[in-house]
Amino acid sequence: MTQATLYPVPDNVKNRCHVTNEQYLALYQESIEQPEQFWSKQAQRLSWSKPFTQVKDTSYELGKVKINWFADGELNASVNCLDRHLPERADQVAFYWEGDEPGVQKEVTYQALYDEVCQLANGMKALGVGKGDRVTIYLPMIPQAAVALLACARIGAVHSVVFAGFSPDALGSRIIDCDSKLVVTTDQALRGSRATNLKDNTDIALAHLGDTNPVKNVIVIKHVGKSIDFHQGRDVWYHELLAQQPKACTPEPMNAEDPLFILYTSGSTGKPKGVLHTTGGYLVYASMTHQYVFDYQDGDIYWCAADVGWVTGHSYIVYGPLANGASSVMFEGVPTYPSVKRIAQIVDKYQVNILYTAPTAIRALMAHGEAPVEGADLSSLRILGSVGEPINPEAWHWYHDKIGKGNCPIVDTWWQTETGGILITPLPGATALKPGSATRPFFGVKPALVDNEGNIVEGQGEGNLVITDSWPGQMRTLYGDHDRFEQTYFSTYAGVYFTGDGARRDEDGYYWLTGRVDDVLNISGHRLGTAEIESCLVAHEAIAEAAVVGYPHDIKGQGIYVYVTPRVGVEPSEDLTKAIRAWVREEISPIATPDLVQWAPAGLPKTRSGKIMRRILRKIAANEHDQLGDISTLADPSVVEMLVNNRLNRK
Ligand code: WTA
Repeated sequence: MTQATLYPVPDNVKNRCHVTNEQYLALYQESIEQPEQFWSKQAQRLSWSKPFTQVKDTSYELGKVKINWFADGELNASVNCLDRHLPERADQVAFYWEGDEPGVQKEVTYQALYDEVCQLANGMKALGVGKGDRVTIYLPMIPQAAVALLACARIGAVHSVVFAGFSPDALGSRIIDCDSKLVVTTDQALRGSRATNLKDNTDIALAHLGDTNPVKNVIVIKHVGKSIDFHQGRDVWYHELLAQQPKACTPEPMNAEDPLFILYTSGSTGKPKGVLHTTGGYLVYASMTHQYVFDYQDGDIYWCAADVGWVTGHSYIVYGPLANGASSVMFEGVPTYPSVKRIAQIVDKYQVNILYTAPTAIRALMAHGEAPVEGADLSSLRILGSVGEPINPEAWHWYHDKIGKGNCPIVDTWWQTETGGILITPLPGATALKPGSATRPFFGVKPALVDNEGNIVEGQGEGNLVITDSWPGQMRTLYGDHDRFEQTYFSTYAGVYFTGDGARRDEDGYYWLTGRVDDVLNISGHRLGTAEIESCLVAHEAIAEAAVVGYPHDIKGQGIYVYVTPRVGVEPSEDLTKAIRAWVREEISPIATPDLVQWAPAGLPKTRSGKIMRRILRKIAANEHDQLGDISTLADPSVVEMLVNNRLNRK
């Protein structure tokens, strides 16, 4: 695979890009050898209300992990995304919003965005929300999602966005964990014409929290017009709140290390982790990567087709592009509604120059051959991006040939919620591409591979991907649990940040991501912990024990394979299987719905000490039961035989 064809930078791209290969190499070297000098220059891309004098103060030493960037500087993220652009860009469109139904659309200029952000910021203040308070945002892809994030940033409140596809319980546990005072939501979300009642979900979540509910107010955006249960004294209509507020709001001066947001993500243990990002370093990094990785130039139309519920939406729909004064498309719906032509139609309609999406979307379209691109003019496209999971070469070629017509570089961007921004990626004008490789590190990023004992793998080779020094966009802690932060990321291998991913480095120094090496699944680019799904399963009355593993899935990348042992007296049946799939869907989210549910009435394979042998379960799920390896340590090997005989994936 490392013999892959090299795709050199096309001339039309090379001649206008921010950096050529020579410039990349020189700048990269400077960023590694003189990080303070490099980042102090780069940070000038923002406007600081109080300039910083310190640049980098970081340590990866276990027990003393600290990450501080620009620590004595002050700035406000919303000022950097809005106010400073107004003299030149007041009438420039910040978001071309495209609704779920074709024909439903709206343009939001920088001035309009500024006005609404100030009004909501004032409204939040009127409700008693201030600097340091947490605000949960539970919204679909509507312009008010960006407004809500920036309004929090303006007053120094810390936003915690919960993906609109999450269930009431998932919402509730995230509200409790960060002790949110306020929730911003809407009557209903629409995706591919399917409606989710977000306000109803919020009501259920808060009711379940009972006396422990920390939420004082719920701001409700009237989006679809569905009727809601209005809780007097708690609920506030967004439009009524804003109507009373002036379109100016003095920004809160924030220290560079003051929190900007919390975003929950799945880890290898049950409880979701509240990844915390701060203001200065995050914004420098989001803005710089957005400009360089997508080669964003003034006047470009940029479209990141992610959801604001994930980190991609935070960094590359809201903060990065707005900090750079970009014009973006924001899309409420899904790539396959009302037809598989939707992505191409949107590109054509807005003459999109840069498209950033996920391999799972590409694979879903690819299955339809030419149909997704028929009848659309895609000639405006210059750069394509990919994120969320490794892009398989077949999908890469389809994306490159059918969407990019063979002349748009694909930036395969590797990063994580924890990293705040892109860490390993091609740069359009600098990097020759190999389909399936995320290629080389971004400025300031020092990746390394280590074997399972923590020894550095030099040159070509494979191992666990670690990052050996800090970059400004790095997460600072897990909200309320610094110890877990250190344990999760800095204890596996001493002195380095452990990503949880495996990777290979080829003869050109290019990185090829090979997937998670921990118990985290990647379903259609969405992160889910196996432990999270297992604890949900065992909470079902019919289930005694459960184990969850991933298996290769044509469209989703990974599918969810569930092994369940029924409780004594419970007879497995088709209906029960259906009920269990529905249970997980309801309790966590539709994205967590098990694809395959295998009953294991004789139990799960365990070591003599009682540990479930996941390695074996993964092999059976992948239909690789001929490669089970050593099973001599099993307490009862006959269990395995039964599972193999009844396996559900035979591809
Ligand atoms: C995976 C999403 C290969 C990886 C931005 C990582 C990728 C996890 C890529 C983070 C890529 C993301 N190639 N794998 N280009 N991008 N991943 O936190 O396993 O939702 O650790 O952040 O997605 O997922 P998260």
